[in-house]
Amino acid sequence: MKEPKQLSVSAIENGTVIDHIPASGLFKVIQILGLDKINNQITFGTNLESKKLGRKAIIKLAGIFFEDDDINRIALVAPDAKLNIIRGYEVVEKSVVRVPDEIIGIARCVNPKCITNFESVTTRFKVVSKKNVALKCHYCEKITDQEHMVIL
Ligand code: CTP
Ligand code: ZN
Repeated sequence: MKEPKQLSVSAIENGTVIDHIPASGLFKVIQILGLDKINNQITFGTNLESKKLGRKAIIKLAGIFFEDDDINRIALVAPDAKLNIIRGYEVVEKSVVRVPDEIIGIARCVNPKCITNFESVTTRFKVVSKKNVALKCHYCEKITDQEHMVIL
């Protein structure tokens, strides 16, 4: 038998729980997924204790189910995020985020002379390394690595 456990944030009936977000990445995840612009019920907790991350954040989205392409956009700021699909209060599916092959928007190009840094052109990158993420700019071909990555 399972021990009853205390949920820091209430359970949801149907929707998506994004767990293991680094606490420092919570608001970026909200921004990337456009969660500030939807009317669904959203609950989140942050600075929760996590063995793996030190401090983690969790977001619970009632009635929202993402396409892989949409959710994978958070991989740059929450590479260890775990997704739980909830139906009828049960976890029916678990998955992890994966760094996509292409990143549109989200990050800034490291090259100060890049067109994306002085005209209103959306950044666009090919992902050339997924482990230590490295992005190659579609416009200037310069590489932006993890260390120099600035999230827009
Ligand atoms: N959850 C929820 N509402 C439910 C069921 C689960 O909000 N009706 C949340 C839990 O709070 C947890 C996550 O979904 O944050 C995953 O649930 P579960 O697999 O039961 O928890 P764990 O076994 O702790 O998951 P893991 O170790 O895989 O992170
Ligand atoms: Zn560039």
